Amino acid sequence: MTKTILITGAAGQLGGRIVHHLLETRGYPAERLVVTTRDPAKLADLSAKGVTIRVANFDEEASLVSAFEGADRVLLISTDALNEPGKRLRQHAAAVAAAVVAGVSQIAYTSMPKPDPGNPVLFAPDHHGTEQVIKATGLPYTIFRNGWYQENLFMALPQALKTGRWYSSAGEGRTAYVSRDDIACAIAGALASAVDQSVTYTLTGAEALTNAEIAALTSEVTGKPIEVVNLSDEALTEGMKVAGVPEAIVPLLISFNANTRGGGFAEVTGDVKKLSGTTPQLLTAFLKANKAALLG
Ligand SMILES: NC(=O)c1ccc[n+]([C@@H]2O[C@H](COP(=O)([O-])OP(=O)(O)OC[C@H]3O[C@@H](n4cnc5c(N)ncnc54)[C@H](OP(=O)(O)O)[C@@H]3O)[C@@H](O)[C@H]2O)c1
Repeated sequence: MTKTILITGAAGQLGGRIVHHLLETRGYPAERLVVTTRDPAKLADLSAKGVTIRVANFDEEASLVSAFEGADRVLLISTDALNEPGKRLRQHAAAVAAAVVAGVSQIAYTSMPKPDPGNPVLFAPDHHGTEQVIKATGLPYTIFRNGWYQENLFMALPQALKTGRWYSSAGEGRTAYVSRDDIACAIAGALASAVDQSVTYTLTGAEALTNAEIAALTSEVTGKPIEVVNLSDEALTEGMKVAGVPEAIVPLLISFNANTRGGGFAEVTGDVKKLSGTTPQLLTAFLKANKAALLG
């Protein structure tokens, strides 16, 4: 019988695309899909298509069991609560516990590449901890270690294009940027498949590039020069503060640079193509498609 798939965070950007690919790309039956959000009004369009909408807030443990009832496969999309260390792990652990009580048969989760202890990214422990909590349930699991979105480059490139300079402490480290939509398509493919055994995927782009290579490609596409200025973490921290980057975010951004420098985002796998059936979008295509927005 067709499994009932439940997706949390379905009103978010990744969740929305996963639901789109399940319905439109995979032709998954809407009556076998349950989607959750804290604000059901955001998902009214899916209700019209026959998808079941439920409220689930990982901060309200008591409500979660009924939210997950009747689901075979539950995809837990990691939350965006980055402001309080440890909060995400508590939220995710509550969701996993509820899924077990609700009797689901498989848990899937959106993690990050190489989240193991020693990863400098400040929120890596949340992902590592959640993976451990899921494995400890003894249920079959699917961990999607999502690579860095190409869309994250909107945090750096518009400013770099404006000033001609991209300040970084990532050195010669490489990142296998992947589009959010390619990740969504791959996750939809895995959820819709009949595979029931536990597996961990790392969803990356098809190439890993240094910031200097990304700057060169961006210049080629936009016709505007960008010089990458490599600094120490300390100098980049000071520079960001002077530039007005909110103080609370600076250590997080520095931790991304440190992870890039150490090769933590450099792995290239074939998992996106294996699950989606299509080659992930190259960075040049992303830059061309977003040229006007990047130039502001
Ligand atoms: N790999 C990367 O480069 C990258 C980049 C950005 C983010 N991420 C991670 O990937 C996740 C999905 O990315 P995205 O682009 O879809 O982000 P997004 O659009 O900001 O979506 C975040 C989702 O988290 C859900 N959420 C927040 N608090 C929650 C709570 N207390 N209980 C249940 N759900 C909660 C929200 O659901 P509702 O508001 O509908 O309740 C929302 O759908 C993010 O949350 C983050 O963990 C990864």
